[in-house]
Amino acid sequence: MSSLVAAPKAVSVYEVGPRDGLQNELRTLATPDKARLIDALVASGLTRIEVTSFVSPRWIPQLADAEKVLALVKRREGVTFSALVPNLKGLERAHAAGLQEAAVFLSVTESHSKKNINKSVAEAVAAAREVASAAHAHGMRVRGYLSTVWGCPYEGLTPVPRVLEVVRQLADLGLSQLSLGDTIGVGTPGHTAQLITEVSRLVPLEQIALHLHDTRGTALANALVGLSMGITTFDSSIGGLGGCPYAPGAAGNLATEDLVYMLQGMGVQTGIDLDRLVGAGELAQELIGRKLSGKYLQAALGEREKQASRARAGA
Ligand code: HMG
Ligand code: MG
Repeated sequence: MSSLVAAPKAVSVYEVGPRDGLQNELRTLATPDKARLIDALVASGLTRIEVTSFVSPRWIPQLADAEKVLALVKRREGVTFSALVPNLKGLERAHAAGLQEAAVFLSVTESHSKKNINKSVAEAVAAAREVASAAHAHGMRVRGYLSTVWGCPYEGLTPVPRVLEVVRQLADLGLSQLSLGDTIGVGTPGHTAQLITEVSRLVPLEQIALHLHDTRGTALANALVGLSMGITTFDSSIGGLGGCPYAPGAAGNLATEDLVYMLQGMGVQTGIDLDRLVGAGELAQELIGRKLSGKYLQAALGEREKQASRARAGA
């Protein structure tokens, strides 16, 4: 273990590629291909995967097949599938599809909230409360997302007191986890440390997750800050897929392989097999039809290619 930072012994990696990644792709994957990708992610050892969204198909056509995806993916003991749910209609769909966890999502800035879900922040808090209460009545767990926590595509950097104001309004929702979203990837380490310090005065550290987009190449640095401060859940996306269709310029999430590579090197347990994860990344790349941005993925695939050509030359 590195003496550089005091890291937890184990962390939980929450994979968002099939949702955050695919919602943002121009090419909509066929339902069986989505199921293959999710199965490959499960095979790599990931135990928490956000598989789709039960949102309006008019707003996110790429995920209009949510029920069909859930009907196709193999369920496995110890693996939790989750999905975004914006309202009661979404919750009933998620429940009928057999999900045990729903993720409510809201922004801390008014303009992103309006563009993303056509609601003010106050209306979004009310909707999240309604969804959480109905989900709990079904015995489902509820994860919460806050977007634009570091900055907003329409309003610039978000003042920390504004974030805390919204976090306070979620206190009585019974969320199992609150994921802080750097939606447009503007976070830097000092800002991240300040946010974690302040938010953890309102929400126990073990319930806070970091959802970092890598638009400016700072996601892994911010994750390391979180790790050193005791955060134990990190959202990430296979190959670095991702973005938000209602946040112009938002790039992919922190790549799962980059995160797992760093954690493994630090001796932090994730239960994930990096080689199999690369296999899932390669599959994602094939299905999407372009090179993905994940750095470890490209390095590992390049290495495999070199080995294969050496083997061909030696044969
Ligand atoms: P609206 O148009 O204001 O809602 O959208 P509405 O209630 O007037 O409904 C419009 C139509 O959608 C109706 O259909 C509804 O039935 C239908 P019509 O009668 O016109 O045929 N509808 C639904 N259909 C299926 N499932 C539903 C549902 N709800 C309504 N659940 C709404 C409001 C919230 C529905 C819409 O704005 C929406 O779905 N938005 C989702 C946007 C989204 O998914 N954005 C990306 C995810 S957030 C993100 O990426 C950030 C995150 O990663 C963290 C970070 O990075 O910061 C989480
Ligand atoms: Mg996101």
